[in-house]
Amino acid sequence: MLVQAYNLMAHDFLLFLLFPYIISTNIHACKQTERSSLLSFALTLSSPPLNWTSIDCCRWKGITCDQDGWVTSLLLPSKWLKGGISPSSLANLTHLTHLNLSHNSLYGSLETQFFLSLNQLEILDLSFNHLFGELPLSLQSINIRTIDLSSNHFFGAISSSFFQQASNLTSFNVSNNTFTAYVPSSICLKHSSPFLRLLDFSSNVFSGNLAPGLGKCSKLQVFRAGHNNLSGLFPEDIYNATKLEEIALPLNSLHGAISDKIVNLTNLAILDLFFNHLGGKLPLNLGKLSKLNFVTFDFNNLEGALPPSLMNCTNLVELRLGSNNLEGDISMLDFSRLSQLTKLDLRANNFTGTVPRSLYLCRSLKAIGLSKNHLEGQIETEILSLKSLSFLSIGFNRFTNLTGAMKILMSCRSLHALLLSGSFVGEGMPSNDDMVDFHGFQNLRVLSLGYCDLTGQIPVWLSKLKNLEFLQLGFSQITGPIPSWLGTLPRLFYISLSHNQISGEFPKQLCRLPRLLYEPIASQVDKYEFELPVFDQYEFELPVFDWITIQRRQKLFSFPAMIDVSNNNISGYIPAEIGQLQLLQELDLHSNNFSGVFPDQISNLKNLEVLNLFMNHLFGIIPLSLANLNFLREFNVSYNNLEGPIPTGTQLQSFDASAFEGNLKLCGAPLPNKCRPNKDMDADNKNNKDEGNGHHQLPWFYIFIVLGFIVGFWGVCGSLVIKKTWRYAYFQFIDNLQDRLYVMITVPLNKMKRRLRG
Ligand SMILES: *[C@@H]1O[C@H](CO)[C@@H](O)[C@H](O)[C@H]1NC(C)=O
Ligand SMILES: *[C@@H]1O[C@H](CO)[C@@H](O)[C@H](O)[C@H]1NC(C)=O
Ligand SMILES: *[C@@H]1O[C@H](CO)[C@@H](O)[C@H](O)[C@H]1NC(C)=O
Ligand SMILES: *[C@@H]1O[C@H](CO)[C@@H](O)[C@H](O)[C@H]1NC(C)=O
Ligand SMILES: *[C@@H]1O[C@H](CO)[C@@H](O)[C@H](O)[C@H]1NC(C)=O
Ligand SMILES: *[C@@H]1O[C@H](CO)[C@@H](O)[C@H](O)[C@H]1NC(C)=O
Ligand SMILES: *[C@@H]1O[C@H](CO)[C@@H](O)[C@H](O)[C@H]1NC(C)=O
Ligand SMILES: *[C@@H]1O[C@H](CO)[C@@H](O)[C@H](O)[C@H]1NC(C)=O
Ligand SMILES: *[C@@H]1O[C@H](CO)[C@@H](O)[C@H](O)[C@H]1NC(C)=O
Ligand SMILES: *[C@@H]1O[C@H](CO)[C@@H](O)[C@H](O)[C@H]1NC(C)=O
Ligand SMILES: *[C@@H]1O[C@H](CO)[C@@H](O)[C@H](O)[C@H]1NC(C)=O
Ligand SMILES: *[C@@H]1O[C@H](CO)[C@@H](O)[C@H](O)[C@H]1NC(C)=O
Repeated sequence: MLVQAYNLMAHDFLLFLLFPYIISTNIHACKQTERSSLLSFALTLSSPPLNWTSIDCCRWKGITCDQDGWVTSLLLPSKWLKGGISPSSLANLTHLTHLNLSHNSLYGSLETQFFLSLNQLEILDLSFNHLFGELPLSLQSINIRTIDLSSNHFFGAISSSFFQQASNLTSFNVSNNTFTAYVPSSICLKHSSPFLRLLDFSSNVFSGNLAPGLGKCSKLQVFRAGHNNLSGLFPEDIYNATKLEEIALPLNSLHGAISDKIVNLTNLAILDLFFNHLGGKLPLNLGKLSKLNFVTFDFNNLEGALPPSLMNCTNLVELRLGSNNLEGDISMLDFSRLSQLTKLDLRANNFTGTVPRSLYLCRSLKAIGLSKNHLEGQIETEILSLKSLSFLSIGFNRFTNLTGAMKILMSCRSLHALLLSGSFVGEGMPSNDDMVDFHGFQNLRVLSLGYCDLTGQIPVWLSKLKNLEFLQLGFSQITGPIPSWLGTLPRLFYISLSHNQISGEFPKQLCRLPRLLYEPIASQVDKYEFELPVFDQYEFELPVFDWITIQRRQKLFSFPAMIDVSNNNISGYIPAEIGQLQLLQELDLHSNNFSGVFPDQISNLKNLEVLNLFMNHLFGIIPLSLANLNFLREFNVSYNNLEGPIPTGTQLQSFDASAFEGNLKLCGAPLPNKCRPNKDMDADNKNNKDEGNGHHQLPWFYIFIVLGFIVGFWGVCGSLVIKKTWRYAYFQFIDNLQDRLYVMITVPLNKMKRRLRG
């Protein structure tokens, strides 16, 4: 009895186990034609193997069939598939409703046949591949709901008839391709797409204006067409699409004003419109949009005051209004309720007043940009309640009390970038006495304190900023020497001390800046990005500003490795040790009192792109080895005392004559005066070059001694004679014996001639 029951149970259990198998083999048996279509698709892939070997294709990985054995879905996203997709094989899978091959490396053109045959498609996702081609005039599938062709290389126009039958379309993403012509706004026209929720046309080459139609998309939630070439007015009828949650049209050329009708878009959370030509005032009632959390209008032509209602947008996370013509006293604005605000950018406008105290209540703030306005007052201690503050840019205003500001800010633990240039004008550099018990700025990477006309010296407390990478102290009244400890700051790679009254010599220690010596170890490379892009004062004013530059300015590592001490009173030699700074990209020593020769070692700076030595007192020749500097794009040695031929056959000839002028004895292209074709110059050249390379001469000396012995009789006397000329030889570079003998005879002669002439 018990055994029987047990048997029965086991039998049932077996059936239970086999059931799905029986069902699937019986019902999902693959059609032979489908199988061969799939296999021909698999054949076009070069890797990896799909392991499609069993008889029943409905059980293959990524495949689903319907009850009749038709393949209905092919889902192979992110499978590292490579190969040229064959549209004809896929086109034969006529019952396909779901096709997802996103995030692979498929290439090839999707021919019209592909879209025409797959007339059952509901979901099509081919994003993140390398597919190309044009879209057909119309889509055959009336069931299509989702189309994602983003991040491929599709091109051409998208015809408005493409969507004619797509009445169930909800999502259409073609971003990051190279589509041209108009954005097909007609996609929203009556009866076409009542369900459309998401439209993404961004990062293409669409141009012209946005034709009316969007307002008809009554369910539209997300509309993106940023980073195209759109012009014309900001579309008026967009305010009728009241379900909109996101409007993103940055990086276009749209103009016109934002209408107060925007308050009808009560769900709006993202309004991303930076880098256009939008004008007018911000809508007075913008603040009624209580869900707003991300608002960018930077780089437009907005004018007028900030609407106070904006301070009612308690969900704001990012508010960027920089580089407009906004004005008004911001002291009165009450920021206190913006507790989510992390980034506030009001830079490069015409705002007046003081920093509103209520701003210090926005406890989430990570970045504050107020520079280039007409603000005044002092930094208050309350700023320390902003525990996450990492980026503070308040330069080019009329703030006062730099010492007070620094004493407060040094306790701001999270601060990474402090940009104060152009404020606190005419004050004293906070000295060490001012900063007693200095322990602060422990995380500071960027300190910009130029354009302030600060008096005083470079203060010692800077030597404690062990994380400092970028130091701007240019355009001030700083006196005293360049401190040698500057060379010990472990992460420093950008130094600008230009346009001051710095004196003394260029410290050798600066040639040991650890960050510029060797290629940093991969683990040390720190791809730090700022919370907001960092612009210098000129860049704010540039009329055209490209997206690449904006992105670059967001990254600390995109700034060049630079030492700029130009326009000071620095004297003495350029230390030969400069050659150690292998990673240096820009060296600017112009308009100082440097003397001595042009150091050969500069040729070791293989990464050098900018070399400005003009307006100094350098003499001697331009070393031939400078030809090693392959990346040089800016070079100027004018107004020194250089002489001899400009090394030929190098990049140096590509610079203007103006880069060499004002050196009376310099000759050869690109200068108009030709070098005299006698050996005179060569000898002088060699003469000069040797000063750095004297040690190479020693073997020659010994060779001469040996020769002297060989000559026998001359052995004793001869070597004495030669030894007499040895001091000479020490400064000469000779390629062969012939040359050397020639020089031994001609150089003294020439020298004598010159002395007689002079
Ligand atoms: C096919 O099988 C091999 C070995 O089991 C495996 O490495 C590979 O990832 C499989 N291919 C796919 C597409 O799953
Ligand atoms: C697709 O079907 C057509 C005709 O139905 C046939 O000629 C062609 O060979 C098929 N292509 C593939 C790759 O199976
Ligand atoms: C395609 O597959 C990927 C990965 O599973 C998924 O994230 C994506 O949402 C799918 N696409 C569609 C349109 O469902
Ligand atoms: C659109 O979708 C609805 C269900 O959401 C469905 O009933 C209808 O048949 C679909 N229409 C078309 C043309 O596919
Ligand atoms: C469209 O696709 C891109 C990837 O190519 C993605 O980043 C973007 O978020 C998608 N757009 C929408 C609105 O989901
Ligand atoms: C744009 O598409 C290319 C090519 O598919 C891809 O590599 C890149 O990541 C995409 N960019 C974005 C921002 O999605
Ligand atoms: C951008 O649009 C303008 C006209 O609005 C046109 O002249 C220009 O060629 C377009 N640029 C590109 C890159 O398509
Ligand atoms: C917006 O909708 C209203 C009524 O719903 C209509 O009168 C108006 O013409 C529409 N505006 C635009 C620009 O389409
Ligand atoms: C905005 O909404 C109000 C009522 O909520 C309505 O009267 C007005 O027509 C709407 N405006 C637009 C442009 O839809
Ligand atoms: C902010 O909202 C409050 C209450 O919601 C309202 O009384 C006040 O008028 C609003 N302020 C502005 C400037 O719109
Ligand atoms: C700022 O305001 C002044 C007058 O106060 C005006 O002359 C100037 O043009 C304005 N600048 C900008 C950028 O709007
Ligand atoms: C400068 O700021 C410090 C710190 O806030 C303050 O103690 C000092 O009184 C201020 N000095 C002046 C002249 O306002």
